Amino acid sequence: MADLRFVPTLSLSALRPGGMRPCTVEGRELLLCRVKDSLHAVDNICTHAFARLHEGRLRGTRLTCPLHGAVFDVRDGHVLKGPATEPLPVHHVRVVADQVEVALEPSAPPAPSEF
Ligand code: FES
Repeated sequence: MADLRFVPTLSLSALRPGGMRPCTVEGRELLLCRVKDSLHAVDNICTHAFARLHEGRLRGTRLTCPLHGAVFDVRDGHVLKGPATEPLPVHHVRVVADQVEVALEPSAPPAPSEF
């Protein structure tokens, strides 16, 4: 992870266990999810169509899209239930002195844009 560029987002105390918060890193809309003792950073835009996932539901590691109900696993982004077929890009996350920092995954496909 030596060449990843971590960017501060929000304080860990702002993210309750079981909760999620949207944020923007280098112009990309992300969603931070706190699951029990772990943190995950995924794209906030569904891979099926243009919907913001923070308006959906997080239950454990299962993130449900508010528009058509696709379900993703926030640990690795894979699709648990359609209609989405493409996995959700997952990014790098760490905590430094109560600050949640995120680095974009270099191999992530370009973020979808609203049109
Ligand atoms: S936009 Fe998310 S399932 Fe369709």
